[in-house]
Amino acid sequence: MNFKHEINPEKLPQHVAIIMDGNGRWAKQKGKLRIFGHQNGVTAVRDTAEAAAEIGVKYLTLYAFSTENWNRPKIEVEALMTLLVATINKETTTLLKNDIKLETIGDTESLPEKCRKELAEAIEKTKHCKRMTLVLALSYSSKWEIINGFKNIAEKVKTGKINVDDIDENLIDEYLCTKNYPDPELMIRTSGEHRISNFLLWQLAYAEFYFTEKLWPDFSKDDFYQAILDYQKRERRFGKTSEQISNQ
Ligand code: IPE
Ligand code: IPE
Ligand code: MG
Repeated sequence: MNFKHEINPEKLPQHVAIIMDGNGRWAKQKGKLRIFGHQNGVTAVRDTAEAAAEIGVKYLTLYAFSTENWNRPKIEVEALMTLLVATINKETTTLLKNDIKLETIGDTESLPEKCRKELAEAIEKTKHCKRMTLVLALSYSSKWEIINGFKNIAEKVKTGKINVDDIDENLIDEYLCTKNYPDPELMIRTSGEHRISNFLLWQLAYAEFYFTEKLWPDFSKDDFYQAILDYQKRERRFGKTSEQISNQ
């Protein structure tokens, strides 16, 4: 089934965020090691980024590695970092071909030197791209981000650069890694888990959530378009009544 043609271009989310989950289970079902699942998840990343760019989504944020994921077995963490280096290196051409700019959020300083170098190169090479921004959340956790933001704000209050009364939603937005992006209107999580796992806690305040049983390596362009269609059927009320929204 092709869902793409059913999408209303007038009602597109500008920013979609995805928790790409289920690689390990996908591999296990096939009697393989977890890393086999991560390797196959790369295809889904490529397809989803293309799918999003094709319909005109402006920002796609993918949760690729959480702060908590550092607690996984060393062998899996190392394999993931190696895969990240190889993927960034290989996929830069795809990004350029699709006019997609790469950016990251998270504590990227904690990534191995080789990853940082590869990422910096891809970010530099794609910085002129205009069609879509692909944001990889790497060594990211929302609580880490918020703590960091609080510390920076507190420092400025201490030195008199910010007045306590100036602290509002906009100011806090400015102190988060996502300061250059609008809040996601849609958050997708694969693999049937219904939780947020420390992802964009502040930014998802009014996002629509879409959960699918599909494991990440099986997530296709059509699955992405189905999520968009589901989003387009929803009424976003922002605290108002349905009548107020339909009279707008
Ligand atoms: C998501 O898949 C990828 C990362 C968290 C890096 P998982 O590795 O969490 O797969 P499951 O949830 O164990 O199946
Ligand atoms: C969330 O997936 C992080 C990423 C997708 C990178 P996890 O699989 O690590 O989440 P939990 O720990 O099961 O909630
Ligand atoms: Mg998981």
